[in-house]
Formats: sequence, C-alpha cells, structure tokens
Amino acid sequence: VTHHPNGKYRVIVTKPLVGQRWLEVLVGADCRVEQCLDTSRPLTPSELRRAIGQRCDGVVGQLTEKWDASMMECLKAAGGRAYSNVAVGYDNVDVAGATRHGVAVGNTPGALTEATAEMAMALAMAAGRRVVEADAFMRAGKYQGWLPDLFLGVTFHGRTLGLIGAGRIGAAFALRMARGLHMDVVYYDVYPNERLERCVQAAGEMFAQQGERPIRIRRADDVEEVLREADVVSLHTVLDASTRHLIDAQRLRLMKEDAVLVNCGRGPLVDEAALVEHCRRHPQFRAGLDVFEDEPRMAPGLKELPNVVVVPHIASATVVARTGMCTLAAANVAGILRGDPAWSKPDV
Ligand code: DGY
Repeated sequence: VTHHPNGKYRVIVTKPLVGQRWLEVLVGADCRVEQCLDTSRPLTPSELRRAIGQRCDGVVGQLTEKWDASMMECLKAAGGRAYSNVAVGYDNVDVAGATRHGVAVGNTPGALTEATAEMAMALAMAAGRRVVEADAFMRAGKYQGWLPDLFLGVTFHGRTLGLIGAGRIGAAFALRMARGLHMDVVYYDVYPNERLERCVQAAGEMFAQQGERPIRIRRADDVEEVLREADVVSLHTVLDASTRHLIDAQRLRLMKEDAVLVNCGRGPLVDEAALVEHCRRHPQFRAGLDVFEDEPRMAPGLKELPNVVVVPHIASATVVARTGMCTLAAANVAGILRGDPAWSKPDV
C-alpha cells in the first residue's frame, strides 16, 4: 500500500505498524510511504532488495529482517540515508557496515522500557508460581479441592534478584522487584548503574524507617557471582559475539536448584539445548522465556517441559509501547532525512 504518493522522499515500511502517529510523522516529513502489509513471515533479503528498488531514501524495518552490510550497500546504492529498526535491540543490523555506507541507523530506546520490565516480572511470577501449569490443570478438570502441597512454587518477597545487564530495562525491572517485593539486587554490568543503586538504597532506607529489613544492591564482579547468589535471574544485556550462549550448561549448574531464569532479551543469550537438559534434570528450576535461540522455532523438548513458561517475543507488546516504538522508528527516519540531529541511535 502507498501513502502520500507525491511525497519527496521514498520510504519503505516492511510490516504493518501500530497506531496512526508513525504515518503522520512520515507524511509530515514529506515521505511517500510504501508499506508491506503481509504478516505471514519476515521479508527475505531478495524481497527487501526488490522493495528498495532503484530509489529508496529510508526504511522502517523489523528485527526479524537481516540488515547486514550488503543490504546497507544496496540501500546506499538506491540513495538511502536512513534505516530505523522498530526495536531497541539491533543485533539484526550491521551498524558499522551501515555507517561505512553512509546510512544512519535508528532504534527505539525508552519506548518499551516499562512494558518489557513488566513482562519480565510476569514471566518470573508465572514460572515461579506455576501459573500456566496450574491453569492447564484446572482446564483439564483435575482440581479436586485444596491441598497443602498443591502446586508449590517459590516465594519472591525478601529474596535476591540477579540481573545480567542493568541498563534501562534491567534497572526498571530491578526497581519494580526491589521496591514491590522487598528483594535485594545483585547485578553484573560492565558499567555501574549508579542511579539504580541510589534508588534501591533509598527504598532500603524507607523499609528501615518502617522497621523492616533494608534491601541491598551490589554490583557483582562477574556473571558467575550473580548466578550463584540470585533466586531470580533476568537477562537484559545486548546480544553480540561476547554474549552469545552467556548462559550455557556450565553456568546453569551454578544456579540455585529452585532458581527462576527469565529471558526477555535475545534468545541466543541462552544455550537453549542446555536449558532444556537442565530443566529436565532439575524440576524445581524454572524458566520464563519471551525469546528463543532460533525464532520462531523452539529447541526440541522445550515445549514439553512443565517448568518452562514460553511466550512469543511479546515483552513490548502493549498498545502504548508498540505505538511509541512505531512512532519513534518513523521519527528517526524523518529526522535523519531532514537533518534533525535528535533521532534515537544505538549506543555503540
Ligand atoms: C526490542 O525492541 O528489541 C524487542 O525485542 C522487541 O520489542
């Protein structure tokens, strides 16, 4: 479908987006918008090349597409100057390759922070308190009355949250858990998050004033320390060569027997086959997964495990967050094409 056919800049949008604001932003920047409405599968590289065609000034694309250096070269050859991912993650984009070809890359930080943190919390709770298993039990008509040991799960209150990655989303999740559930926080990140530390300390002082145990936060020296100490471990780090299979069989073995692992980051952060094996051997261990190593597929055996909760990469799927992401992705392309310096770019 084509919107604003006489626009000055030709921009392609590779999927249906959420809300109307994104289109107003592009039309307001005098863009002729050509949008693919097929949701059946991601566009293949040859379909993307065809869509770019002879002339394309900018692209609003998806994390399911591979925007590697050769695709950026193709975009550049068509006069392209802007590529914006409808996502905060950009592991599908060769940012260095884009820069080499003079294509500016945008992403959507901030728009999905709270929604993603909320889903991390939902997955932690659903896995730790066995919500999905218990729901299936009810629907199967198996409930015969209250029992002291029916679906025992883990307590969150007063325990320790471990974070791998304490950027925007990790910090939001930690604050909800620390303040709401009185949890201590141990995190590993290459950079200290001083704001997070101050907020948790302030919450700790508030608890102390009320005569309760103050909560604590500590930056760990390494990933292993977090895995050993935490009751709930949540992954919020970027995917790159150094973080692929960050959680492998050896590191899973360091975790507590009844720990909960949450992944709302990127699937390949976890060795999924190793996770299947670990969950099989340790029925008290639980995992809540929003992302998978080879999406949309899941590792063999994963979906049979009762101690794993799986959802289809929907951590940011609230109307507010997705509207915000689509609007920001469009605003990035509009900003780049118009030479406005205030567009959102990956922190590389
Ligand atoms: C992102 O933004 O990177 C998420 O994976 C999709 O919301």
